[in-house]
Amino acid sequence: MNEAATVGILTSGGDAPGMNAAVRAAFRALKMRDPNCTILFYHDGFRGLAKKFDPITMREVDRRDVRNIIHRGGTFLGTGRVSELIPPSEQKPGEGYQKEIVRHEQFVQKAIDNLYQAQVSHLIVVGGDGSFRGAQIIAEAFRKAHPERPFAVVGIPATIDNDVYGTLFSIGFDTALNNVVEAIRKIRDTVESHKRAIVLEVMGNASGWLALHSAIAGGASYVAVPEIEATYHHDEILNCLIAGALRDYRYFIIIVAEGVLKRAGTQWSQELKNRIEQDMHLQQALGMPMEARINSVGHLARGGSPSALDNTLAGFLGAAAADIIQLGHLPHEKVSVQANLDVMVGYQGAFVQTLPLAEVIQNSPHLITPQSELYQLACKLTLRAKQPF
Ligand code: F6P
Repeated sequence: MNEAATVGILTSGGDAPGMNAAVRAAFRALKMRDPNCTILFYHDGFRGLAKKFDPITMREVDRRDVRNIIHRGGTFLGTGRVSELIPPSEQKPGEGYQKEIVRHEQFVQKAIDNLYQAQVSHLIVVGGDGSFRGAQIIAEAFRKAHPERPFAVVGIPATIDNDVYGTLFSIGFDTALNNVVEAIRKIRDTVESHKRAIVLEVMGNASGWLALHSAIAGGASYVAVPEIEATYHHDEILNCLIAGALRDYRYFIIIVAEGVLKRAGTQWSQELKNRIEQDMHLQQALGMPMEARINSVGHLARGGSPSALDNTLAGFLGAAAADIIQLGHLPHEKVSVQANLDVMVGYQGAFVQTLPLAEVIQNSPHLITPQSELYQLACKLTLRAKQPF
């Protein structure tokens, strides 16, 4: 058992319901096995890690710090996205480029100095693939600067986008999915009453998993995702609605992932609304014109108490992170993780698995493809242009 562990914990990126439960689970599991284990919390994501070293705020946390947080949404540790952590290779050369590189180097240096000073041997990062990329940069810089010191990152996947490779579900996704489905149900009441079409925008920048999943669970008429261009052609959507109208559908719920608006332009929803309201074929099929409205679930998807499933997942993954740090491996994984290897603990149905963080980063974001089972399911359950029944 690794008795000497000093563990830093932070949450990073977009907040996700269940992050609190993950921090609590990691804390409790670490302390349960080794009450002398030193645990430090960094606030506001990596920004807290790269702050001026302050021994007072950097005090070791105790059990009172993780009380009364398990039911709360958001993250009690605070979070953020840190532009300074964008690697030089991804910075755009041009005006201000050199300044950005210096900012990046200073940020990383401050973070590794603080980790060194606090003698942190393991950093638990609760977040998505962007946060893992940042963590890996810091970890590699730390090991280069201090090869004599053991240091590794353990990632816990938490993002409402559910696009981290190596885990079936990321913490926060289930709560967000339920929030979006609740929104769809509410929207359905009013849309059905007025026999309208609604374009409902749902978060998900690079990936449309939340939109796709919620469209299936909420019984939407149509879903457009950024990964599959054909899903966001207005002509295609109109054809599907006409096919529905010819089969007596009198209202439509069209879910669109945020990433579509990033690719096709923010006017995408307005243009679709105009098309729906003006299309003669649709009017003929309906026997009357159709009104359309645009709504956005937005950040409401991320808020509120975590679902029981998210907190359970957070419990599993937080405790698994403690296993990796203190035992060197998960109880059912007989081979120990190589010393100083950054890893992520991922949920694989019946069990939790450990994956090298580099592999996770390389394969993330995990995107929808036309072959994805969930996409295939959506093709069966939503309106098609050639609707045979
Ligand atoms: O990463 C989660 C997420 O909710 C994305 O779906 C969305 O694109 C992004 O965060 C929004 O981030 P912010 O809250 O910083 O605007």
